[in-house]
This record gives sequence, C-alpha cells and structure tokens, in this order.
Amino acid sequence: MNQLTWAVLFVTFMTKLWVTTQGIYVDNGNPYDNGTLEVVNLTLSQHDAPLLTKVYYPKKIDTYAVVFFAGGLLGWIPAESYSDVLKRVASHGFVVIGVDYLPYTFPTPPPEVRVRTHTQEGVQSHQSKKYLEELQWLAQHLEARIAQQLNQTGLVPDFRHLAVSCHSAGCDPIVDMAMENQTFSKAALFLEPFSYHFKTPMTYTMPAFILGTEFSTEHPACIFPREGYDHFYDMWQCPKIVMNVKGHGHCEVLDAWLYSVCAKYQFCKANPDADINKYHNFIQGISAAFLTTTLQGWDKLQYITNTTLLPVQLLEFKKDLDC
Ligand SMILES: *[C@@H]1O[C@H](CO)[C@@H](O)[C@H](O)[C@H]1NC(C)=O
Ligand SMILES: *[C@@H]1O[C@H](CO)[C@@H](O)[C@H](O)[C@H]1NC(C)=O
Ligand SMILES: *[C@@H]1O[C@H](CO)[C@@H](O)[C@H](O)[C@H]1NC(C)=O
Ligand SMILES: *[C@@H]1O[C@H](CO)[C@@H](O)[C@H](O)[C@H]1NC(C)=O
Ligand SMILES: *[C@@H]1O[C@H](CO)[C@@H](O)[C@H](O)[C@H]1NC(C)=O
Repeated sequence: MNQLTWAVLFVTFMTKLWVTTQGIYVDNGNPYDNGTLEVVNLTLSQHDAPLLTKVYYPKKIDTYAVVFFAGGLLGWIPAESYSDVLKRVASHGFVVIGVDYLPYTFPTPPPEVRVRTHTQEGVQSHQSKKYLEELQWLAQHLEARIAQQLNQTGLVPDFRHLAVSCHSAGCDPIVDMAMENQTFSKAALFLEPFSYHFKTPMTYTMPAFILGTEFSTEHPACIFPREGYDHFYDMWQCPKIVMNVKGHGHCEVLDAWLYSVCAKYQFCKANPDADINKYHNFIQGISAAFLTTTLQGWDKLQYITNTTLLPVQLLEFKKDLDC
C-alpha cells in the first residue's frame, strides 16, 4: 500500500474511532505502567442512587471521561470484586463507576440467575432499565457527590465521553443498553463477555474491544463456547478488536483474594499459578490503551495491535478497523 492510501485509511479510521476531545484529561503515559494519578473511591448507597455504586476516580481536580462497569452474573458479582482492575484504570484518568445489582446474597447468586437459560427472554430488561436509570441519576448527581467527598468543586465526570464495560454475563444488560440507544456510549470494553440473548447483529458503530480467555470455556466452564468473545466479535460492527488470552481463566480479573477462592474451589477453570499482578497489569494496559484512544482522543492502539508488546500470550487476535 502506498503512503497516500495509508494516510487516507488512517484518517478515515481516526474519524470513526476518535472523538475530538476538548478539556478532557489525557493520559500520555504507557498504559501498561501504573497510572500516575492517585485514586480515591466513593460509595453511593442504594437509598441515595438507584443502585449501590462504587466510584473510583482520580483525586486531582480535572475533567475526566467516564467508564460504566457491570460485574459478572448479570451484575450480581459486586463491583468491589474488581476493585484492583477498576482502580488501575481510573489511575489513567477515568472516573470508573462500578454498579452492584442488589439485593444479592454473595457469593451465592439468586436462583433465577443460576437456572436462567438463554431461551428465556425479557428477564434482562429489568437490569438494563435499572442501569439506564442509574446512568441518568449519575449524570445529574455524581459531580456534586464527588465535590462533597473532596470538599472541593471542579472535578467533572464528563458523561459525554462515556464507555460501557462489563465482565461475563454483566455484558448481557450492557448489550441491551447499547442496542436500545445509539448515542449514550462512545465505546464498549467487553471483558470475557457473555450474553443470553445477543442474537441479532449490532446495527450501528460503537468501537469495541473484546477479550476472551482460554480457560473460560473449558470445564468447569463459566462461558458457553460460541456465545462468548467470538460471538460478540461476530455480532459487533467495525471498528472492533478481539483477543483470546492463553493460559488464563474467568476469575483472574477479580481481586486477588477472590481469584484465589475461585482457583481453589474451581468455580470456573482458573490458572492456579497465575501471577495476578501481572495479569491485572495486562488488563489495565489494554483497557487504558483502548479507552484513551476512544474517549480521551489520543491514539494508543499500537499498545493493543502490536501484540509482541503484550505481557501475555494470545491464542487468537483479530481486528477490523478499516471501516
Ligand atoms: C501497580 O499497582 C498495583 C496495585 O494497584 C501494585 O500492586 C503494583 O505493585 C504496582 N506496580 C508498580 C510497578 O508499581
Ligand atoms: C476505598 O477507599 C478506602 C479509603 O482509602 C479504602 O480503605 C478502601 O479499601 C477502598 N475500597 C475499595 C473497594 O477500593
Ligand atoms: C471543607 O472546606 C471548608 C472551607 O475550606 C472548611 O471550613 C471545612 O472544614 C472543610 N471540611 C472538611 C470536612 O474538610
Ligand atoms: C440515549 O442516551 C442519551 C444520552 O444518555 C439520551 O440523551 C437519550 O435520551 C437516549 N435516547 C433514548 C431513545 O433513550
Ligand atoms: C512492535 O513492537 C516491537 C517491540 O517494541 C517493535 O520492535 C516493532 O517494530 C513494533 N511493530 C510495529 C508494527 O509497530
């Protein structure tokens, strides 16, 4: 390909994937390094916000892009279980919002979640409605709640630069939301996604990064084969990137103590010898690279697409960015 063709492709791609950002904090460091911002957390009770909410945000006063995250099992795995990864992402300049779908009896999911099969339709809509309600509430109140906690105004979570993110079946309601509303989110970060009813292809563009792990579909499996990362990739529209990580499983994204419980009892097949710090560093790296590109307007895709730089081995890597 000659240089002009490259230039045209590049510019076309950038205009599709990038949103011109103004006044948003931009992280110009290496996404695989720990972020430089100190992160604090804020808990919003269910009596305050529509859902119990854990927010991780940089302490430094600035305007930040926002990430809305739902944990596994349709959101029944509390966001606190992912605090290490969420905190690491926040340290790269994001207000990261984890929502808990309550009431739950952790760690036993409610019966209807356990027995729900993909033939049941409509069960999820309650979740996605609740998440939308939550998002609207946060867009109105989060800035003030943060000011209250910091005892200082000026820290702005900018919901015009929002990405959705999720783990496992937490992605089921998130896909629902994306299907119903084309404008609320600028990007989607799917970590080992699974959906019970994602049957029709996406009809509009929302850049997506999709992660799979080798062990998640192996016995004891926590993702049905062909309904996980590969299915999401097939259903999604360009631009999209997918990778399947070798030698890791479904629990490794969780905080270290939960991972060790999961690995010990093999709730999902896990790598019992995983170096969690290293793996979380990888998740942080791909997440920060993707979100910085899509929300902060600074191209860091080479940290994802140059797979020789990744701290893990891949079984599969595909991208479709020329759209
Ligand atoms: C990065 O942060 C994690 C905790 O979030 C910490 O455990 C780790 O030691 C840090 N790594 C470096 C190189 O500072
Ligand atoms: C939230 O911040 C407090 C105070 O710094 C800390 O003790 C706690 O562990 C944090 N919680 C989570 C879930 O990160
Ligand atoms: C909040 O700031 C005000 C004015 O600077 C100060 O008087 C007050 O003590 C602060 N409160 C807390 C809890 O830090
Ligand atoms: C989609 O989301 C945007 C931003 O949150 C909101 O303003 C709009 O009303 C939503 N549209 C629909 C059809 O719900
Ligand atoms: C990928 O990274 C390696 C190691 O830093 C570098 O040598 C190589 O040139 C990079 N490849 C591309 C296509 O940028």
